[in-house]
Amino acid sequence: ALKMILDCDTGVDDTLAILYASLHPEIDLIGLGSVWGNVDVATATRNCLHTVHMAGRPEVPVAAGAAGPIAGGEAVFAYHVHGDDGQGNAGSGREVGAVVPGSAAEQIVRLVTANPGEVEIVAVGPLTNLAIALGLCPELPSLVRGVTIMGGAADAPGNVTEVAEANIWCDPEAAAAVFHAPWRLTMVGLDVTMRTTLDDSHRARLDQGGTVGQYVSRILDFYFEFFAGAAFGERRSCMHDALAVAIAAGTLVPDLAPTVNAYVVTGDGPTRGQTVCDTRGKYMGFPAQEGAHCQVVLESDPHFGDQVVALIAAAGDS
Ligand code: BDR
Ligand code: CA
Repeated sequence: ALKMILDCDTGVDDTLAILYASLHPEIDLIGLGSVWGNVDVATATRNCLHTVHMAGRPEVPVAAGAAGPIAGGEAVFAYHVHGDDGQGNAGSGREVGAVVPGSAAEQIVRLVTANPGEVEIVAVGPLTNLAIALGLCPELPSLVRGVTIMGGAADAPGNVTEVAEANIWCDPEAAAAVFHAPWRLTMVGLDVTMRTTLDDSHRARLDQGGTVGQYVSRILDFYFEFFAGAAFGERRSCMHDALAVAIAAGTLVPDLAPTVNAYVVTGDGPTRGQTVCDTRGKYMGFPAQEGAHCQVVLESDPHFGDQVVALIAAAGDS
């Protein structure tokens, strides 16, 4: 199984990603880090702990991460999307387990250094922890297997501004460092996550599962209402974070565009937080780009939700 460290700003879709990574037999979740983003970091941490316990994986070490952007400045949260508890206001509120000593960034460095060449880091929140880890350990890029993020948009528009996706928009300076580092970076952006959706038929299947399935059905209810009002005009949600986990693990194999150069726009202008991905190879036949290291996922399986729901509905009670 693939060794994975997951870094989450645990709101609703992050919870599905953690469950997928905890339950899938081809994934060995060796560490989980929390980060600010959808909710404050204390709430994200509590949700990380709750989720691994619910999945029957209390041994997964959870480390608390950054509380705001790497360069300082205001942390803006998304309680209106994920609920005050980050769990669609349906979370148990149960305080369970405890974090391990040290920060999420320190945990990344520790686990990657202990398993050189073997660990895939999957970050599905703002990239603050990963950028801090790079600062702590500049050799990190040569020690990881790769990095997969849910974030950005190559062909699609943004979801916070016209061009910026939330995870990148929250901390563009951190994201710029992560895009710049010389590791194999797989970007699972809004291009594919907005086209991979869950609806009430998925909730009905979750309701027929055990307590984990029923819990996920409850937290999705709030998330669907948000998307009904803000995006789709009907009750369904997109599947952001679990998609990145599956693509990282190879349990879903997307159609990959050629590896390209990509960077994040910083500064104060209207394009702050945009991911610029040089997809001219795919669309215009331009030659391969020297030194490129970013794989942008542009096509994947729109029915991936079925796989996630089947795994979660089958989870035993713990
Ligand atoms: C991303 O931002 C967060 O709200 C979601 O959990 C996902 O990681 C989508 O833009
Ligand atoms: Ca997230």
